[in-house]
Amino acid sequence: MSLASRIHGHFHPVDAEHTQEAAPFWVRHYDRVASVIAFGRVDRVHEGTLELAGFGPGLALLDIGCGTGELVVRAESAVDGNGTFVGLDSEPGMIAQAKRKALDRSASVTFEEASIDAIPYPDATFDVVTSSLMFHHLDDAQQRDGLAEILRVLSPGGTLLIVDINTAKRSVISRLPGHRTADTTDRVSGQVAESLRKAGFESVSAGTHPFDALSYATGIKP
Ligand SMILES: C[S@@+](CC[C@H](N)C(=O)[O-])C[C@H]1O[C@@H](n2cnc3c(N)ncnc32)[C@H](O)[C@@H]1O
Repeated sequence: MSLASRIHGHFHPVDAEHTQEAAPFWVRHYDRVASVIAFGRVDRVHEGTLELAGFGPGLALLDIGCGTGELVVRAESAVDGNGTFVGLDSEPGMIAQAKRKALDRSASVTFEEASIDAIPYPDATFDVVTSSLMFHHLDDAQQRDGLAEILRVLSPGGTLLIVDINTAKRSVISRLPGHRTADTTDRVSGQVAESLRKAGFESVSAGTHPFDALSYATGIKP
């Protein structure tokens, strides 16, 4: 049985009706700001993330805190639509932007408004779960509950990849309002990797992302 039929009814391809919600100013300009902060190297951020996650054709991908959906839309395009592509975000304006982007680029993806601690999909739905630049928004309880939810929706052997600011580096991104920290060590390879182990992920590892202001932690669902 195909993945799509197993979870029949859970995916809702985008249409024009779903893209009409008004998004706040900062949401509408998120992609431009991200490009400036990444010194125009957004490609390196997203391609690096998909590579680290082991993403490839035929897989079911979930990106949590997907923002304007750039990673998911690029993933769909990279494998000519051969797979299942879902983005979740708790901010309705981001989801509206992501749906508009998917329509503009004719990408067959699903975007839904949802929080990491209540993922609206059945157990063992996804092969790869990614989360980029969103973990630092979560408090301890949301991180714990979110990781439990990710374990639930990953298939056995599936991969979680978390990408976030490398707090050991004084980069432009780490100096933005709301991102400043007193940490002198990297929180992703320390505290986040440890949280993955405690949540029950196996083969946990961490390191520097190809975009070196970022780092990553990854683990496998047993
Ligand atoms: C800095 S943006 C990152 C967007 C995108 N992943 C990227 O790499 O550019 C963080 C995103 O996380 C979302 N977010 C924050 N808390 C969330 C939660 N509890 N569940 C899902 N998304 C959340 C925000 O709405 C925002 O779109």
